[in-house]
Amino acid sequence: MLGSGIVLGCDYNPEQWSADVWQEDVRLMRQAGVDLVAINIFGWSYLEPRPGEYDFAGLDRVVELLHEHDIKINLGTGTSSPPPWLTTLHPEILPTAADGTTRYPGGRQAWCPSSPIFRRRALALVEQVARRYGEHPAVVLWHVSNELGCHNAHCYDEETAEAFRRWLRKRYGTVDALNDGWGTSFWSQRYGDWSEVGLPRQALSARNPGQQLDFHRFSSDELLDYYRDEVEVLRRHSTVPITTNFMVTAHIRNLDYWTWAPEMDVVANDHYLDHRLAAPTAELAFAADLTRGLAGGQPWILMEQSVGAVSWQPHNLAKAPGEMTRNSLTHVARGADAVCFFQWRASAQGAEKFHSALIPHAGTDTEAWREVLTLSATLDRLDEVAGTTVEADVAVLFSWQSWWSCDGESRPSHSVRYLDQVHRAYQALRDLGVTADVLAPPRTWTGTGWSSCPACT
Ligand code: GLA
Repeated sequence: MLGSGIVLGCDYNPEQWSADVWQEDVRLMRQAGVDLVAINIFGWSYLEPRPGEYDFAGLDRVVELLHEHDIKINLGTGTSSPPPWLTTLHPEILPTAADGTTRYPGGRQAWCPSSPIFRRRALALVEQVARRYGEHPAVVLWHVSNELGCHNAHCYDEETAEAFRRWLRKRYGTVDALNDGWGTSFWSQRYGDWSEVGLPRQALSARNPGQQLDFHRFSSDELLDYYRDEVEVLRRHSTVPITTNFMVTAHIRNLDYWTWAPEMDVVANDHYLDHRLAAPTAELAFAADLTRGLAGGQPWILMEQSVGAVSWQPHNLAKAPGEMTRNSLTHVARGADAVCFFQWRASAQGAEKFHSALIPHAGTDTEAWREVLTLSATLDRLDEVAGTTVEADVAVLFSWQSWWSCDGESRPSHSVRYLDQVHRAYQALRDLGVTADVLAPPRTWTGTGWSSCPACT
């Protein structure tokens, strides 16, 4: 897929460190057998420090350093988080929450997917990056943005409302068809004109379920459209495969990846054990099987996981000795041909300074680092597994659209949740030692009829 054998990789955020640390980093990457490094994931403020003023000196050096050490590059387009100058110049790109309040910069991904200004500025950066590195021999993969929709999938501003109406017109054709689809005769919700149709903003009671479901679909499509725009720029300058990192996981459900997957040159997923669940490793197995389903049974990339604790759950558990290796091999056994981590070196500052990394704060004389070396050697011994596929006689059907719909505001019982039910069916098979594929339902309801699903044929 990305070379021979099972790939070991990581996110690398060298902007945090001085150039002498970079030398040490590449030396240790070689020692650990790191094959693939994702860079420029959050590079925007570094590459374009002022509007329209680009500075590639730092990224050039990192690219060359990796190349000299024969390490391949998974190059981020750098657009994931807008730099402070952009949100200062154009606060209108900031996301609006369902209650009409603004979500401010200070974290990451503070942009609204339907913002034309954000898109124009982001694509201008992609153009620069693609032109500069599109044919570089070390670049073997493009990494569009980062975890699209992780924080900003749903935006409730007026620009989004306009885009939603355009999407609805395409879907329904007439206001009457929309009224029929959404059942607006109930509770006096009948629309007389497109201009009256809005977003499912925060309301006093349960909102119209048809409107909510369509807003989910629209929001997923809107980000996919954004992805396509970045791809279009990259393709003009490069023939290297393009992907973005999915979040097939129990706690994020904003994108219908069945519609996204066919547009990826290779499917990539980020997976973190979620200790809020009763059986985190069972969920890991399910997510890996689902990722294989998205990849159409072909090998896929585990783009991120953690060496030890994450820093964004209520209780961030360290991994027991051997646990990281076991989880990595679970992904490989379920079809991953690349095992990558967030991130290379633990941050000394910033929002993720308590997150584990391949090089922990304590350095390389640690059990954590020794386990990384062991994993690397183990993956090398498994090289012949690369390119092979998983055989399963049983399939569990899974659909994001069903998830959105079943977990709506008004329903028979809030104790019955879609994903729990799917996990139970999957768990029953797992307990029997039965390997299952996880596939899309063969057909989906469009509101006006059944259509076949491209991802499942
Ligand atoms: C996500 C992001 C990374 C990092 C990790 C931490 O996967 O893509 O940038 O924040 O979570 O677990």
